[in-house]
Amino acid sequence: MSAPTGSAQTGSAPKPRVSARIGGIAESATLAVDAKAKALKAEGRPVIGFGAGEPDFPTPPAIVEAAQAAAADPKNHRYSPAGGLPELKAAIVAKTKRDSGYEIAANQVLVTNGGKQAVYQTFATLLDPGDEVILPAPYWTTYPEAITLAGGTPAVVVTGPETDYLPSVEQLEAARTEKTKVLLWCSPSNPTGAVASRELTEAVGRWAVDNGVWVVTDEIYEHLTYDGAEAVSMPVAVPELADTCVVLNGVAKTYAMTGWRVGWMVGPTDVIKAATNLQSHLSSNVANVSQRAAIEALTGSLDAVDEMKRAFDRRRRTIVELLSAIPGVECPTPKGAFYAYPDVRGLLGKEIRGRHIETSLDLAAVVLEEAEVAVVPGEAFGTPGYFRLSYALSDDDLKTGVTRMGELLAEAK
Ligand SMILES: Cc1ncc(COP(=O)(O)O)c(C=O)c1O
Repeated sequence: MSAPTGSAQTGSAPKPRVSARIGGIAESATLAVDAKAKALKAEGRPVIGFGAGEPDFPTPPAIVEAAQAAAADPKNHRYSPAGGLPELKAAIVAKTKRDSGYEIAANQVLVTNGGKQAVYQTFATLLDPGDEVILPAPYWTTYPEAITLAGGTPAVVVTGPETDYLPSVEQLEAARTEKTKVLLWCSPSNPTGAVASRELTEAVGRWAVDNGVWVVTDEIYEHLTYDGAEAVSMPVAVPELADTCVVLNGVAKTYAMTGWRVGWMVGPTDVIKAATNLQSHLSSNVANVSQRAAIEALTGSLDAVDEMKRAFDRRRRTIVELLSAIPGVECPTPKGAFYAYPDVRGLLGKEIRGRHIETSLDLAAVVLEEAEVAVVPGEAFGTPGYFRLSYALSDDDLKTGVTRMGELLAEAK
């Protein structure tokens, strides 16, 4: 029998069944949209999902083969060092130099169970209760939860399409208080696909150094840039930042390896040591088979990555063109990652098929029910009035889905 709602029966003072800390965590909106789309699909409805942030390609064969060999080798059936296999750490050191020009040592690396664990552990390691984290919005939906769970407070800086969804140093400075400890930086960005220029990255990094603000820089989309845009690593742009900077990365997006769960943190040795202690009690080593697969990914050729990138680039152009043709929708051209972030504010306050549309959340619900297309509303990213569409799906589904949504939205009055 279940306990009475809200509290366990423990004498006179009822205690909440779930702690306030964990009870306050919101469900991941992106995963929720994806789950709803999959449930409707399972009912036989032809839903096209633009919700999930994962490549539709299989992991390249050489990586899968390395994992198969690793699974057959008993040495991988045992616990391994909590901080990561030494061979993988060495591969991360070499890859970081190759891809971003950042020179690091192996004791600055902690291998994590996906980039998500790297985000959580970074904030848990850096923040004390009351510390503030400047968080430019639109932001990836996990950041505010990870900050809050670590006892920190997100100080959100809202940006819009007029600045390519990137904050200026002036905006960051206006959000800085004596409690500010960290700036979260994500370029190329999820959800907007914005890529910060070298000038902006340098200016922001210099502002951080001058004001003693740490930078947590999420570089997981570093390989996915288009139209000549360049992903600039924050501590490379401003080398003085190295001692107060944590770089987050992983194999998920670059190598179509979302299910393998390998990410990492790169930071100063004291921070990495502390985070490794945390991980040693939390989850220990990442699955050895996945780590061996990641070694193959990082030491192998980038040809498969280039091929995926060409497909993303083609889909990016298609989605921007189709979205821009819908009345009431404005879509800047993203320069990185695999997301479009159109402004749908032109459709708010209207009616579609007898339903009044007040917010982008309402609009996304109508689009899912009536057009059978799943998108994530901007509410999930701290900026209501927008949609995020991942274009990491097949060309055919992409065209059919956006066309279907466009036909529905054209009915708005
Ligand atoms: C900006 C950003 N950082 C980190 C991650 C974490 O990826 P994973 O945990 O799959 O490695 C994601 C995934 O959506 C992301 O979009």
